[in-house]
Amino acid sequence: MDQAKASTDSTSKETPGSEAGRRSFLKTTLATGSAAAALSSSAFLARSAHAAGSDIIKVGLIGCGGRGSGAAKDAMTADPGCRLTAIADVFYERMNDGKNNLSKTLGDQYAVTDDQSFSGWECLDQILATDINVVLLATPPGFRPAQMEAAVKAGKHVFCEKPVAVDPVGVRRVMAASEMAKEKGLSVVSGLCWRYDLGVKATMEQIFSGAIGEIVNIQENYLTGTLWSRVPKPEWTPMHNQVLNWLYYRWLSGDHIVEQFIHSLDKAMWLHNDVPPVKCYGTGGRQVRTDPKFGDVYDHFAVVYEWEDGTRCFAQTRQMSECFSETEDFVFGTKGTAKILANSIKGETNWQYEGKKPSMYELEHVALMNSIRRGEALNNGDYMSKSTLMAIMGREAAYSGEVITWKDLMESDMKLGPDRIAWGEAPEVVVPMPGRYRFKEE
Ligand SMILES: NC(=O)c1ccc[n+]([C@@H]2O[C@H](COP(=O)([O-])OP(=O)(O)OC[C@H]3O[C@@H](n4cnc5c(N)ncnc54)[C@H](O)[C@@H]3O)[C@@H](O)[C@H]2O)c1
Repeated sequence: MDQAKASTDSTSKETPGSEAGRRSFLKTTLATGSAAAALSSSAFLARSAHAAGSDIIKVGLIGCGGRGSGAAKDAMTADPGCRLTAIADVFYERMNDGKNNLSKTLGDQYAVTDDQSFSGWECLDQILATDINVVLLATPPGFRPAQMEAAVKAGKHVFCEKPVAVDPVGVRRVMAASEMAKEKGLSVVSGLCWRYDLGVKATMEQIFSGAIGEIVNIQENYLTGTLWSRVPKPEWTPMHNQVLNWLYYRWLSGDHIVEQFIHSLDKAMWLHNDVPPVKCYGTGGRQVRTDPKFGDVYDHFAVVYEWEDGTRCFAQTRQMSECFSETEDFVFGTKGTAKILANSIKGETNWQYEGKKPSMYELEHVALMNSIRRGEALNNGDYMSKSTLMAIMGREAAYSGEVITWKDLMESDMKLGPDRIAWGEAPEVVVPMPGRYRFKEE
């Protein structure tokens, strides 16, 4: 059996991802591929300086799931000059389903030919060898560091879904790739979508201009229900199951504190001007989602993060059904309180955002495509890496019961997952037990 063609159409209860150009630049990139990207940033931008705005931006998608298909649609909506010209997924069937769906929804902007459609473990190299200008990275997070590094090396602009890694080694690899992108004048735009939401941005501006006084502390709530799981098929090997049910294996998802709660932790990082916390400690466990099909991940976490300036973030997340649900960022200041997702401020002066609310998912692609058309690279690499590391820090604190410092993380050699991935056997599944699991070596 061609393992990449193993039937994968067995999603149960799937929640869909809820979650334009400088002619000379484009011509150069199209003609010489990664050679163009090897130009210095300033030379690169100078060569881009005389173009009109009507050129085609060729986009490639890797990872044809709910979010990847959504990101492809968002990119096309963001810029009528975009064309989806290449597509890749490790599974042939999912790649083909992606083609069928996107050919219907993208209309004239769908331009994927059969020889630009790739599956199997080599699909990353194959899609990066095409003449795409932009690649959308929407596979499980465990694959992101290698894919991000390869994309930048190949001279592609990147849309990078969150989180960017599952371990400290992976985060540092993405940090290095983001720096390489700066040198090459390539844009890196993050899927941390709330950074592009107009109501959230306006609320942040209010806070930064002193509307609640000095920030004393932050409470992050991401109390939500359960997510999808895919029913295994008889022909699946253990590795097929882990890759398709990646949410439940920390070497692929980072656990839900990293995979989902990063949206909230990123706002706490943003509120600190992207200065990371110095340490954290916390608790967590696996109380309801105990079935083996849920791999090795927890179903709740509560973590306290502390910053050098004495401020704290009390962060809690839960994925359980039939419980109280609330996703909100509460910011307590010396003169008032802000609720960031509600876009409201109560205090000496009350304030509520009343402006327009276009899709934040589209706005991140508008920013990406505009940066390409203007020849002014946009790079979200710093915060997307640091927020991922902050989430990993909380996970490791809860798993181990230890106090974990930022320095610990930056120096850690922790790398999850196998070096070489093939169908067949999968990594052993061991649920971390606080007090017994150690982050730091004795
Ligand atoms: N920003 C948001 O609000 C938001 C919302 C949902 C998901 N996401 C993120 O998007 C990413 C994808 O999530 P999803 O819900 O679409 O998952 P999904 O499982 O539906 O899709 C992932 C796809 O990647 C494919 N794939 C897996 N490994 C691969 C590899 N090595 N090479 C090529 N293809 C591979 C899978 O076959 C699958 O089709 C995750 O990082 C997730 O955290 C972000």
